[in-house]
Amino acid sequence: MKQHLVIFDTTLRDGEQSPGASMTREEKIRVARQLEKMRVDVIEAGFAAASPGDFDAIHAIAHTIKESTVCSLARANENDIRRAGEAIKPAKSGRVHTFIATSPIHMEKKLRMSPDQVVEQAIRAIGWAREYTDDVEFSAEDAGRSELDFLCRIFEQVIKAGATTINVPDTVGYNIPYQYAETIRQLIERVPNSDRVIWSVHCHNDLGLAVSNSLAAVLAGARQVECTINGLGERAGNASLEEVVMAVRTRSDVFPVETRIDTTQIVPASKLVSQITGYPVQPNKAVVGANAFAHEAGIHQDGVLKHRETYEIMRAEDVGWAQNKLVLGKHSGRNAFKARLQQIGIELESDEALNAAFARFKELADRKHEIFDEDLHALVSDEVVTPEHEHYKLIYSHVCSETGEMPHARVILSVGGVERKGEASGGGPVDATFKAIERIAKSGAELLLYSVNAITTGTDAQGEVTTRLAKAGRIVNGNGADTDIVIASARSYLNALNKLHSSLDRVRAQGDV
Ligand code: KIV
Ligand code: ZN
Repeated sequence: MKQHLVIFDTTLRDGEQSPGASMTREEKIRVARQLEKMRVDVIEAGFAAASPGDFDAIHAIAHTIKESTVCSLARANENDIRRAGEAIKPAKSGRVHTFIATSPIHMEKKLRMSPDQVVEQAIRAIGWAREYTDDVEFSAEDAGRSELDFLCRIFEQVIKAGATTINVPDTVGYNIPYQYAETIRQLIERVPNSDRVIWSVHCHNDLGLAVSNSLAAVLAGARQVECTINGLGERAGNASLEEVVMAVRTRSDVFPVETRIDTTQIVPASKLVSQITGYPVQPNKAVVGANAFAHEAGIHQDGVLKHRETYEIMRAEDVGWAQNKLVLGKHSGRNAFKARLQQIGIELESDEALNAAFARFKELADRKHEIFDEDLHALVSDEVVTPEHEHYKLIYSHVCSETGEMPHARVILSVGGVERKGEASGGGPVDATFKAIERIAKSGAELLLYSVNAITTGTDAQGEVTTRLAKAGRIVNGNGADTDIVIASARSYLNALNKLHSSLDRVRAQGDV
């Protein structure tokens, strides 16, 4: 009989700490819905005390999600924990996850606290958290560089105080699988009442070992893995959910555990997160990379045709690759459109938003013969989801680009409801269009990233553009999709400008207790 391995997804918290990967409230809700559909056990929805925007997003997710536990991170201080407790209140099942650093370097240089003070603070933190929920997780930040005796001491105390999950993060990605596994084994053996809690791991990928360390820890007794879609996360990222889940499933001969993940939702989740954050998935990425199931060498192709398992250890359709099928066309009606959006986890908030999305769908269907799920995600990912945030709106765009001439663009925008015109020349049609928009918007934002991807195959595919802008310490991603990549680019730029314009203050407050 296999034991259950808890999959704790922190894409919306640690993942969002990747530079430029910040998500709006609506985007977070979309990702949370997809995670729920994938049957993730715990969704870490954010860090409630970081900003009012984070609090609000966690609160909304706690309200929406029914099949997964919703969790907020909190430093081990009373204010953070009360914010986290309030944020998860609407959840059917809610968790507070509190942490304090335990390594000598963090305690001395960052916290400026003695080990005794750290233990006392951790015990108090668990007490505050238990006022809100019975489901309390404690993390010893930088456990991977902490002394084993000290970890045993603090874990014994927080278990006594009521922690129900004990997390052992390799915060700086320093550990090596056999050594990390040994730490987990020793902790489970030495900490009194270790059998009353779930042992959890949270590994960073600085040495490319996050998944290996997590799996080694599972073999040593860990029963929760913290991970993210596409391995997103602070610096080099976290252990990637898809790799952990598929390793446990594919090598069920080795692992004494099983997850409840619906693996067919993995690729849709990967695409959604990539699209929203603007972090592309490398083609050779395990499980979710475009080439993960592509066979190039003739010998391999021949082998797969004769017997798939000669070169394939997983089936593409088991992780959701087969979803790339025709779903709607030019003659599909509003109800079919709405039903398909619901099936892929997109709930538009009002009839007005649905009508706007449907109008764009019809426009797209006129230009593109076959409409796939990926097209629908792209269609609703920009302004249609949040019409109330649309300060800048594209009304008209014209670009002239010919051999030997400098491209020239003219745009008409609606700015707060007022029509404004702008024109400019540039190094290319996109450059000219962005300059024309800037002539009107005068945002002064710095362009950090511009990327274009074809959403599906074929020359009539929609180009999906991500534009990352920075201004006054805020970094936002804008998305836009269209079969015309200049228009997709303009939409993406305006989507980013609209996010900068919205007043959500997302300044982060991490660092000390
Ligand atoms: O990496 C880390 O230590 C963390 C903790 C807050 C769990 O993200
Ligand atoms: Zn982390």
